[in-house]
Amino acid sequence: MKIFLETYGCQMNSYDSELVCSILAKANYALVPKEEEADVVLLNTCAIREHAHQKVYNRIHEIKRAHKRGQGPGTRDQKPLIGILGCMATNLRTDLLENRRLDIDFIAGPDSYKRLPALIEQAMQTEIRDTRYEIRKPFDVTLSEFETYSDVYPRRERGVNAWLAVMRGCNNFCTFCVVPYTRGRERSRSVENVVEETRRLAGEGFKQVTLLGQNVNSYFCEGADFADLLDAVSGVEAIERIRFTSPHPKDFQDKLLTVVARNPKVCKHIHLPLQSGSNRILELMDRTYTREEFLGLAAKVRRLIPGVALSTDVIVGFCSETDADFEATLDVMEQVGFDSAFTFKYSQRKGTIAERKYKDDVPEAIKTERIVRLNELQKEISLKKNRAHIGQTLEILLENKGSKHSPDVLYGRADGNQLVTLDEGGHTLGDLLQVRIIDASPNILKGVLKGVAIS
Ligand code: 5AD
Ligand code: SF4
Repeated sequence: MKIFLETYGCQMNSYDSELVCSILAKANYALVPKEEEADVVLLNTCAIREHAHQKVYNRIHEIKRAHKRGQGPGTRDQKPLIGILGCMATNLRTDLLENRRLDIDFIAGPDSYKRLPALIEQAMQTEIRDTRYEIRKPFDVTLSEFETYSDVYPRRERGVNAWLAVMRGCNNFCTFCVVPYTRGRERSRSVENVVEETRRLAGEGFKQVTLLGQNVNSYFCEGADFADLLDAVSGVEAIERIRFTSPHPKDFQDKLLTVVARNPKVCKHIHLPLQSGSNRILELMDRTYTREEFLGLAAKVRRLIPGVALSTDVIVGFCSETDADFEATLDVMEQVGFDSAFTFKYSQRKGTIAERKYKDDVPEAIKTERIVRLNELQKEISLKKNRAHIGQTLEILLENKGSKHSPDVLYGRADGNQLVTLDEGGHTLGDLLQVRIIDASPNILKGVLKGVAIS
């Protein structure tokens, strides 16, 4: 059986796909790079916003159409098996299993990947056995309090950065968010286990490790907190840089900020998801901080980690958000001056507290108007922040090479996560270079190797 796996959504899903590849390879399934060669198509899905759902639904129909045309996966006599993994599996289990138009073959939630070989086997049996009767499709969306996959070593493509999940799940229940329902309760891997995986990564030539968790800085295992974990991981010699995502503002104790400040391997970049700048909306979202506390935290982060880069997530158009609430968000954005921001229109999710308690009453046109304004403001701020680097020398880790227009162009990231492009060839991915910044736009810096004259 040949399997093609496609991934949607966040970095945690990318990591989970690497776990899935490892589990399937151990069970002797062949993973193929092209869907046309596959008998089974797995879609590792995301449920965070409606758009993510829609993409997957469209994709399922596209796979079926391609098969009918004889161009897609499966063979002439045998349609491909389609399996849905990830957050949509837990969130939309009933729809996925009962929707005849979708007609997928099996589903597996984020804590059920060890059962995938059995589920695929079962799905094949049901296909062969009988298609005339109403058949119960194989599924497992049980959420576990313990599963961390700490005994599975992910199958990764070689590269510069490796994802490494150190905890899974979330206990916060922000009212807009579906993650606590799709991924279950928080659980962490042991420090030794994470360090062991990092050592193997270093042995395979990875230079950077990004520690992942839905709520990464609430990591806690056998008396060790996230600050302890960062220090322990930084002991792995060949790893040059450590990043982490996604944190919650409530879990930035001074101890953690001090470790980020003084540990040279931990990148000086903190993601501080604001979500809203209005106290009334923050309360409705159950984010557990006020705008004043958030501003205080941002100031403290800057004080304790000089030169730190800050990024954020913001939702516009949450239930009952007024113009004044939105203005309050713009105001916090201006006051903090994030280096970059991810912005989203509120998208009501099935099963969340907001869906049950509040009305999604901000019209789509207003959400669009607000996100456009927010993005315009952020673009100005990002440009100002990036321009301030012109003339500075930054240390860049080379992560990618080549673009559509120019095969020699190099891409790297500065310690603060800013994307930097270089024109000089002759370097290897994974190199750490001293680069002088000569130009800046809102999303990218342009640099030259230090010592090279600018013509
Ligand atoms: N609608 C819009 N954005 C959302 N996010 C999470 N849930 C929703 C939702 N229902 C955003 C938050 C979070 C980021 C990962 O996605 O800003 O920080
Ligand atoms: Fe969702 Fe809030 Fe948990 Fe982040 S902290 S995953 S936004 S519930």
